[in-house]
Amino acid sequence: MSAEVIAVNGGKWGDEGKGKIVDHFAQSADVVIRAQGGDNAGHTIKNGTGKFVLHQVPSGIFNPDCLNIIGTGTVFNPVSFINEIADLQEKGVDVSNIRISNRAALVLPVHIIEDKLREGQRENGGIGTTNRGIGPAYTDRTSRDGLSVADINDLDTFMGKLKPLLKRKRDSYPGADNPQLHTDYYEDLRGQWFLELEEYITDSQALINKYLSHDSKIVIEGAQGTLLDKDYGTLPYVTSSSTTIGGLLQGAGIPPSALTQAIGVFKAYDSRVGNGGFPTELKGEEGDRLRELGHEYGATTNRPRRVGWFDGVAALYSSQLNGYTDIALTRLDTLSEFGKAQINYGYQLDGEQTDIFPANDNDALEKCIPCNISKFKMEDISWVRKFKDLPLEAQFYCNRISQITDTRISLIGIGEGREDLIII
Ligand code: IMP
Repeated sequence: MSAEVIAVNGGKWGDEGKGKIVDHFAQSADVVIRAQGGDNAGHTIKNGTGKFVLHQVPSGIFNPDCLNIIGTGTVFNPVSFINEIADLQEKGVDVSNIRISNRAALVLPVHIIEDKLREGQRENGGIGTTNRGIGPAYTDRTSRDGLSVADINDLDTFMGKLKPLLKRKRDSYPGADNPQLHTDYYEDLRGQWFLELEEYITDSQALINKYLSHDSKIVIEGAQGTLLDKDYGTLPYVTSSSTTIGGLLQGAGIPPSALTQAIGVFKAYDSRVGNGGFPTELKGEEGDRLRELGHEYGATTNRPRRVGWFDGVAALYSSQLNGYTDIALTRLDTLSEFGKAQINYGYQLDGEQTDIFPANDNDALEKCIPCNISKFKMEDISWVRKFKDLPLEAQFYCNRISQITDTRISLIGIGEGREDLIII
């Protein structure tokens, strides 16, 4: 017996609509494992019960038969998780099938203070983080100084690790005098977290290994997107985790040999939150119109997203790096409302043409001018439910993306709802 393992990540800079795609697979899944990131994510799902924005809770939560694991590779924020599940419960969602890996790194209130302090120290407007303490929490995990979720279970262990951590932070930020930098702040808080979270915290790896050895369906849910990967993304304007399919396997605790499908979610146009190069960005009135049509405002921070044409060079970089078996293309409906689309398959950089995405050089990325452009007229698709019924130019558009990335498109998003999906 072998399990079916489907990993789903974002192909570009996040906000591609991963929540909707994971929700689709989760309807028949036994387990969904959120692999990396923390409450910096905002996964929007619209189903028969309503519209939800999930931050740490995996997108399989709407299938009562599916276990939802917040994985080892995540940074777990107890404060926002407690609020998130209270909110879901209020809306009638059963949250008893959530488990939190005892090995996940803890995001403490001090990390949020630190995130803001560090952003203030950075030049040129900083990275534009979500201010959720993600970078500092991952830094403490990597330096081996941070706390894990399991530490919530025991006051002495918790305080024993917290004391030297906070001292180091006070020494690093001598001017800062926030209560979150002192141990007193955490005594009652740890007790409250223990009471609220004890039932969810578990050795998730033992659970996952059991599912792997049975004929089960496992979905690995990524957060953010490939171009925000800490190693392969558009540094320094990236997040602090591994957002690639390889990173997802590591974070979820699934061996690479178990993977059966790698799905890259791409939006039919591009968007980016925060700073950094964006060669196909649409500015001015056109950009404003696309942003409004796509409701492109951050699900976590409400910041307006920068929007632009689908960048074929970036898409090829991402599909090669991730080894996608399939692409899920979302928001074709938004482009059809916009009335037109275009894809480049090259850049002009310093007078030379290139098809290489300069992920590790933001100065170069800022200078790239899209070239080798194909343009498409997009017509109304509101009545369409099958690929063959799409207007011809919309079919050409999808085929061009498939050709550039050398990957088949197996799902197309044509609306917000669960059923608004063309399955190919
Ligand atoms: P951090 O993850 O909060 O440290 O932010 C680092 C960068 O990643 C910033 O540019 C954020 O805007 C971006 N980012 C983080 N999470 C998301 C997301 O879920 N969608 C899109 N961008 C994100």
